[in-house]
Amino acid sequence: MKVGIVGAGMVGSSAGYALAMLGIVSDIVLVDRNAALALAQAEDISHAVPFVSATTVIAGDYADLTGAGVVILAAGVSQKPGETRLELLERNAAVFRDVVGEVLRVAPDAILLIASNPVDIMTQVATRLSGLPPQRVIGSGTILDSARFRSLIGRHLGISPQSVHAYVLGEHGDSEVLGWSNARAGSVSLQSFAEQIGSPLTDDVRQSIDEGVRNAAYKIINGKGATYYGIGAGLARIVKAIAQDQRDVLSVSIVTPHIVDVEDVALSVPRIVGADGVVADLIPELEASEHTALGRSAALLKERVESIKF
Ligand code: LAC
Repeated sequence: MKVGIVGAGMVGSSAGYALAMLGIVSDIVLVDRNAALALAQAEDISHAVPFVSATTVIAGDYADLTGAGVVILAAGVSQKPGETRLELLERNAAVFRDVVGEVLRVAPDAILLIASNPVDIMTQVATRLSGLPPQRVIGSGTILDSARFRSLIGRHLGISPQSVHAYVLGEHGDSEVLGWSNARAGSVSLQSFAEQIGSPLTDDVRQSIDEGVRNAAYKIINGKGATYYGIGAGLARIVKAIAQDQRDVLSVSIVTPHIVDVEDVALSVPRIVGADGVVADLIPELEASEHTALGRSAALLKERVESIKF
């Protein structure tokens, strides 16, 4: 499969690097309005390929995206220290008004994978601009937040995050909802396992994990100016599910017709992802407090998307 990446900044190039290291696609094409940047990133990634895979990595223009199965949209500005993801909206919506049409002109059959923040609203913008069915316009959503959630739970319990089944729902942002009530360690409820091994999930532990997930990006941005390796790997994970038709359950964002009493809003819930994009939603049973928080998150996203003049 050929994968296009529009936006060869740190997020787009990290996704390209992760894909090249996984060796799960045949071709990666990096496109950026700064052609020199795209070329340098493609060259640099291509020098890593001989160590692990046979992926072809090039820089090109939109015409080189012809035949791509997935096109990652990572173009636009990213958060500066202290900036929220929602504050990027106007600038990145303007970028998408140019990019989406260019991509569909040459790759009308591609699944669009949205990385630019605020990713849920950018997913809705891309869906509206492209006219594609929502199942084929997938935002990375809370896939990274869910990974952070699992990583911190795994660290507390002393088990691999791969054996922790937990999802973050709603906005990829400050209003996100950690799905504590249906999180599991292996096939055991988190609460029960934690008590069995003498590492109870006290209110303090839960608060610490919640803050660790919710504020991860702000902390990293304060330290090095941006996040990119985590999201790059998350994007590659979604491409893997599509390229190999894995039908994995991933917390990704697509425009959802009706959820927690909000109509037509893009947000993350666990969804099955395969060759045709999102195959089905697996909306979990939530405790009352989680349900209320998810409703608040959906309403906030809905309000912001209604402020956009498409
Ligand atoms: C983060 C960016 C991708 O959460 O929003 O690191």
